[in-house]
Amino acid sequence: MRTDIVDLAYLVSAVGFGLSLKWMTAVVTARRGILAGEISFAIAIVATLINPAITTTGWFLIAVALALGTMIGIPLGLRVPMTAMPERIALSHAFGALAAGLVGVAHYYLTYHSSGKFETVVLGVEVTLGCLVFTGSLMASGKLHEVLPQRPIVFPGQNFLNFSVLGVAAAIIIVLMFRPDTTWLVPVLVVLGLVFGVLLIIPIGGADMPTVIALLNSYAGLSAAALGFVLNNKLLIVAGALDGTSGLILALIMCRAMNRSFRNVLFGAFGQLDESVAESSEHGQVRSASTDEAAEIMKIARSVVIVPGYGMAVAQAQHKVRELADALEQEGVDVRYAIHPVAGRMPGHMNVLLAEANVPYDKLLDMEEINPEFPQVDVVLVLGANDVVNPAARHAKSSPIYGMPILNVDQAQCVMVVKRSMRAGFAGIENELFYNPKTLMIFGDAKAVVSELALEVSGQLSH
Ligand code: TAP
Repeated sequence: MRTDIVDLAYLVSAVGFGLSLKWMTAVVTARRGILAGEISFAIAIVATLINPAITTTGWFLIAVALALGTMIGIPLGLRVPMTAMPERIALSHAFGALAAGLVGVAHYYLTYHSSGKFETVVLGVEVTLGCLVFTGSLMASGKLHEVLPQRPIVFPGQNFLNFSVLGVAAAIIIVLMFRPDTTWLVPVLVVLGLVFGVLLIIPIGGADMPTVIALLNSYAGLSAAALGFVLNNKLLIVAGALDGTSGLILALIMCRAMNRSFRNVLFGAFGQLDESVAESSEHGQVRSASTDEAAEIMKIARSVVIVPGYGMAVAQAQHKVRELADALEQEGVDVRYAIHPVAGRMPGHMNVLLAEANVPYDKLLDMEEINPEFPQVDVVLVLGANDVVNPAARHAKSSPIYGMPILNVDQAQCVMVVKRSMRAGFAGIENELFYNPKTLMIFGDAKAVVSELALEVSGQLSH
């Protein structure tokens, strides 16, 4: 009877996870998606706890793990800023994968004398994946957090070494399949998985780490699904498969948006920026404007398009942006937002921030929607964005961002760029947009500048 309840609960959570992912694909339903995910997780955890297989000692250990996890998880969740989310997510993957790997190892030692060949292979793959995602995710997090060098580390014979490590791991799994009692090979497999995780990440530059994290997420999902097969836990199979495929799809979308080859992400040795390009742009004249000049221009415009980027996130300027938009709309100006798929540092970063400031969803336009309209736009306000509006992506073949689809803001009548200096963005390259005769630079922190602009437009600042 209790087993039936557990199975039913697992079925409900599996459906809930599917719905959660579906709802998270649109901004309007994203909150519902998160809630569905949370409820499904809660049901899955309760169902696992009432599983008749759990003994009294099990309950005690689970309580200790729950207390420890909560003690670490809550402060971590509260303290980490939104801009550091990718490295925070990488840490979660690392520990999730470590857990999956360790459960796999424990299961092997408990059952190797009675398990079949298929089960051994799945378990071997699961342990290898779990271990490589653990060290790979730690490396990715370290690179993003800049505690590890961001530049790719490449050395002769790297691919040979990588494939050799993988080959030995595969050979061990085959030996275990026929001789499951050679249990001393399991720790060797663990070490090879851990080493392979490091080798996989070192040739990849820091700039590509978020894509790599999405891919590691996918590997962690595969590892969980494999564990589900071994433990005969259907929910783990479904959840792992969902995690694996959604991570893979996300990595593909990010690769396309950043014009990276997916093959290179899979096999490493990519993300090496051409440093020479950073120095090579031709310098023209930079024109700067004060906030009152900028406000005057915006007030007489018919349409203003705001392009948010990483700088808006750092400055936490989204609420002030909303105030500026309200003030402009009071003046009869049409205000919309152009969202680049990789603006900021994680997928959907700008959407989340603008939703937090209650910007209506229908004002947010994707790159494909807004790009044809830029020639008719009077003013574009680029707010802490840089790479995603760099025209070099369209024509400079030697540029590291060449081929990345960008927001064609240089086609608008007037471009205003708010940032603190002439410094480069994430890709480390100069932006010719700043030297365009149509461009006015407004130097300063995004939040301070936008709040001044809002006051200027609404006439609350006297000169
Ligand atoms: P970036 O190109 O990184 O430029 C951000 C700009 O914001 C900087 O040039 C910086 O200039 C400015 N800034 C920083 N703090 C500021 C503040 N407090 N006030 C005003 N400006 C500030 O950003 P982007 O245009 O959003 O492009 C995103 C980049 O990240 C792309 O290269 C993309 O490929 C990469 N990336 C994105 C993702 C995802 S999924 N979103 C993942 C990985 C990588 P100053 O220092 O002069 O102020």
